[in-house]
Amino acid sequence: MFKDLLIPPKKGVTRFVFLGGKGGVGKSTLAAAIALGLAEEGYRVLLASTDLQKSQNDILLQDIGSDETRVNGFDNFMAINIDAKESIRKHQLEVLKKIGNLKGDEAEILFLKEYWEKNPVLPCETASYNVFVDYMNSDEYEVIVFDTAPGGHNLDMISYPWKHLDRLKKSITVKKEVADLTGKVAEIELLEKFAEENIKAIEKLSSEATSYLLVLHPEMLPVYEAKRILDSLRPYGIPVKGLVLNEVLPEEVCTNPFFKERRKLQEKYIKMVREEFPNMEIIEVPLIETEVVGIEKVKRIAKAIMSAP
Ligand SMILES: Nc1ncnc2c1ncn2[C@@H]1O[C@H](COP(=O)(O)OP(=O)(O)O)[C@@H](O)[C@H]1O
Ligand SMILES: [Mg+2]
Repeated sequence: MFKDLLIPPKKGVTRFVFLGGKGGVGKSTLAAAIALGLAEEGYRVLLASTDLQKSQNDILLQDIGSDETRVNGFDNFMAINIDAKESIRKHQLEVLKKIGNLKGDEAEILFLKEYWEKNPVLPCETASYNVFVDYMNSDEYEVIVFDTAPGGHNLDMISYPWKHLDRLKKSITVKKEVADLTGKVAEIELLEKFAEENIKAIEKLSSEATSYLLVLHPEMLPVYEAKRILDSLRPYGIPVKGLVLNEVLPEEVCTNPFFKERRKLQEKYIKMVREEFPNMEIIEVPLIETEVVGIEKVKRIAKAIMSAP
């Protein structure tokens, strides 16, 4: 069942859901619908967006803050617009907390503390990726649905733990080489803590905990699009577990020649996708007559997803 890709894989294990695909295919809409559908079933859900356009504010018709914000009408459904500038501060606080727990030379720890207080030296984007890693390590929610900005941003974010771990390892090696001379071991311990978190994120991203779903319109060669994204994720060992064919014309409304023809075109591509990916969970989400704006509309999409075979 498609729903099995969305609920926690087992008790006590957080499910992470990512949606990939071209701009405008419905990633943000479906992220909101999945999160809402799960919240309606009682799961503790976070909808985390890194999209600067804050699409979720327009979809949920609510001002979602850069801190976790309760979605109207729910106790168990939170949303957040992960803001780059705010992320710098949040990450800085996380690091300072870690520094507080370090053992080692007092002077060095004081130096590290002052350094991180004054100078978090993180490019904005990287800061929000660190918040992403923090969420991958959190067990506060049963499900976290990520909505990413368009373009290569999705892959940038999801591959960040690999790239960052690589940098951290190099840095640790260099610092270990000079540690005998400098006596600076607390910083090594700090970097090792960062490395550990990135390793854990990597493990989760390539495990049953993560569901990467691809959203496609059943129009314009979706198979090529799907294969391209599958290939881009392969080096990281992140499998695409499901395909969402969005904006499928409901058969019952295709009564005139124009829409009958359009529906036929969609059916051709749906068949093509199903043949090409026989082992993947595939669902069809209908096109509805309006934009998907407001909780009631999102609920309609959620119902289609949650009841899919
Ligand atoms: N199943 C659907 N039925 C009707 N409109 C939809 C559906 N899915 C998405 N839309 C509309 O398509 C537009 C683009 O969706 P969006 O979720 O912002 O795409 P993305 O995040 O992939 O760029 C929005 O106006 C949204 O309301
Ligand atoms: Mg979007």
